[in-house]
Amino acid sequence: MNKLTAFTVLILFGSLGVQTFINSQTQESSKDQMKNNQTNNNNTKKQIIMNAPNKFEFQPLPYSYDALEPFIDKLTVEIHYSKHHKAYYDNFINAIKGTEMESMGIKDIFKNISKYPLAARNNSGGYFNHTFYWESMKAHGGGMPTGKLPEAITKTFNSFDEFKKQFSEAGKTRFGSGWAWLCLDDKGSLFIFSTPNQDNPLMDLAEKKGTPLLTMDVWEHAYYLKYQNKRPDYIEAFWNVVNWEKVAQRYENAVKAVGVK
Ligand SMILES: [Fe+2]
Repeated sequence: MNKLTAFTVLILFGSLGVQTFINSQTQESSKDQMKNNQTNNNNTKKQIIMNAPNKFEFQPLPYSYDALEPFIDKLTVEIHYSKHHKAYYDNFINAIKGTEMESMGIKDIFKNISKYPLAARNNSGGYFNHTFYWESMKAHGGGMPTGKLPEAITKTFNSFDEFKKQFSEAGKTRFGSGWAWLCLDDKGSLFIFSTPNQDNPLMDLAEKKGTPLLTMDVWEHAYYLKYQNKRPDYIEAFWNVVNWEKVAQRYENAVKAVGVK
């Protein structure tokens, strides 16, 4: 090999070496980039999960504070929702923190509520019952239900007026604080029921169990500012704000769920 050939070979191998080095650095750099992208993706996923709304949300009131006037006054609705209901919600979240209840649905919690501490029972009920109550009412409500519900009510209670009388009575006679309920049992029959404190008919310890269709809060905080000790007047007024479309929809869903035609 003469000097020129030897020099050419040297340059050639040298160049290949540099290229190999550049390629390997480029590949490493790509790997690093992919790794970084993966990390960023994971961080984004974590961020999305962290920002995901709690499955137990404190849902917005479905109408303005004054929407149920003059039957249920603005101040009562405001304090009832933003103070009482909110406190039940906050206490419920605290009561389930770090327990198996955090990963359960609210109905499964109710099905097993007798094995959990009293704070979970009172506050899960207070959280759920109030949401259900707000949705049971609307501005310019009242009147008669629609769909198949009125037929079922008449069949069970003889007349719509008789149903109202019995439901009102359940609210009036609930000693202390509690709730009146219209429910569907697992055989597809309607029944009226009342529960003490924050219990409800979905709880395993309820004397009678069923799917709630309509509820009325008869705690004093639901009516005292306007009606003071006159609970029957509040109950009379309640019929003017019942959201019968919602109740009828719940009835249709409950009938399907229990498999009754
Ligand atoms: Fe309440």
